[in-house]
Amino acid sequence: MPRNSKKSAAAKSPDLSNFAVAILAAGKGTRLKSRHPKVLHAIGGKPLVAHVIAAASRVVPPNRIFVIIGHEAERVKQALAATNVQFVMQADQRGTGHAFMCARSALSKFEHVLGLSGDVPLIRAETLRELADFHLKNRAAMTILTARVPDPAGYGRIIRKRGSQTEVAAIVEQSKLNEREAKINEINSGTYALRTASLFKFLDKLNTDNAHHEYYLTDIAALLVKAREHVLALEAAEPSEVLGVNTRAELARLDALLRQEKCAELMSAGVTIFRPETCMIDAEVEVATDTIIEPFVHLLGKTRIGGDCHISSFSVLRDSELAGQIEVRPGCVITESRIASGAVLGPYSHLRPGTDVGEGAHVGNFVETKKTRLGRGSKANHLTYLGDSEIGENVNVGAGTITCNYDGVNKHRTVIEAGAFIGSDATLVAPVRIGAGAYVAAGSCITEDVPADSLALARSFQTVKEGWVSKRRQSRSAANPRRKY
Ligand code: UD1
Ligand code: CA
Repeated sequence: MPRNSKKSAAAKSPDLSNFAVAILAAGKGTRLKSRHPKVLHAIGGKPLVAHVIAAASRVVPPNRIFVIIGHEAERVKQALAATNVQFVMQADQRGTGHAFMCARSALSKFEHVLGLSGDVPLIRAETLRELADFHLKNRAAMTILTARVPDPAGYGRIIRKRGSQTEVAAIVEQSKLNEREAKINEINSGTYALRTASLFKFLDKLNTDNAHHEYYLTDIAALLVKAREHVLALEAAEPSEVLGVNTRAELARLDALLRQEKCAELMSAGVTIFRPETCMIDAEVEVATDTIIEPFVHLLGKTRIGGDCHISSFSVLRDSELAGQIEVRPGCVITESRIASGAVLGPYSHLRPGTDVGEGAHVGNFVETKKTRLGRGSKANHLTYLGDSEIGENVNVGAGTITCNYDGVNKHRTVIEAGAFIGSDATLVAPVRIGAGAYVAAGSCITEDVPADSLALARSFQTVKEGWVSKRRQSRSAANPRRKY
């Protein structure tokens, strides 16, 4: 980006130095019918509240983001530890208004607060900046981000002041709607900009006179209006951005929306995705141009894929790094592994954590690897287990080779040096080292190190008894003339 364009963008964005962000994440999420905290349910492979924190972090630094936790607080805290945000405890969850009461001492030193919901995950940083900007320019006490949606059921509705473009009279929760209000399709997104002085002046005036006997933050709108403070509505440009997650169906819908957006983003950056609606690509995945992704591929976690790769159907890649020009044939499971360029994997390879595949190496069908480095140009093409191994360049690992890495108590390493040839069905009992260029005969059970350039044979020798079968056949047919063999 040219320097001056960056500068002009900065000049346009509002001054948020007096803003804190509060993210409401203490609720149980009863409607999800889950044993786990609602805000830790994931869409796009990331907890709901982590999406909200990611957007907030692009607006204010993490030491000004206060996540209000309560239900299963320790689990939520642990899951978010890496984000460096602050936490505020709401031990009993007595409503969204009560959540702010608990955060009073943390928030009142700031002039304004952006109040966000931990269960409204698609919110974008740009929208938050717009909300703050609108709020500041209009000197509002409260600015509500709203949206017009085809099905407003379940949301709080916005009652606009008659004759005003922006002023709000009240927010009415679903349970209190009258017939006329129920027809209003403008909803409260649960995202607000609030002047803290006004918020905390009226917060204590909330009551629990409602269906759930909770302190509703939304009631503060009418209280502020009554005190002649400005309560404004800012309609979100993209209504899907403010959708909330209260049920499993909504969770699935938002997950699909996010993944659809992710695929669109990758495709516009030059990645081919066939049948994108069947692919599961997490938010943080990176894919370079001209890579082809076939239907039903999962790219999860922090997976990064270089250019010109081909990822075939039914492959599941998690937290793995692939360089360029790699072929992943159908049905591979690849976890926490690194693959160098030109490698060919699968079909049906299982690369477990700590696998490091060198340039141009091949890992074939029904091969399992774990904590194993396979050197450049090496091949393990069929029915093999390679665990805790260091395999040099240009090694040929024959079909059915097994590293016996576990003695029932400890794990041991197998080293196979460059250019070695491991015959089919060899078992390599670790710790063991096969020297450079050495040969291991097929069917061997190797328990001792093999020096470089030698042949190790560790199997019983074959005995051939010539004519044995025909003699047996003759003696049998003598005993039983009707039997042929
Ligand atoms: C809320 C709004 C509603 C709005 C909707 C938008 C209220 C009373 N209603 O309804 O107008 O349309 O969001 O999504 O605010 N939470 C706490 N502590 C509590 C209760 C809730 O931290 O004591 C958290 C929840 O974990 C959740 C958020 O606040 O992340 C919203 O709570 P929820 O119960 O989902 O409110 P809604 O019924 O969706
Ligand atoms: Ca909600």
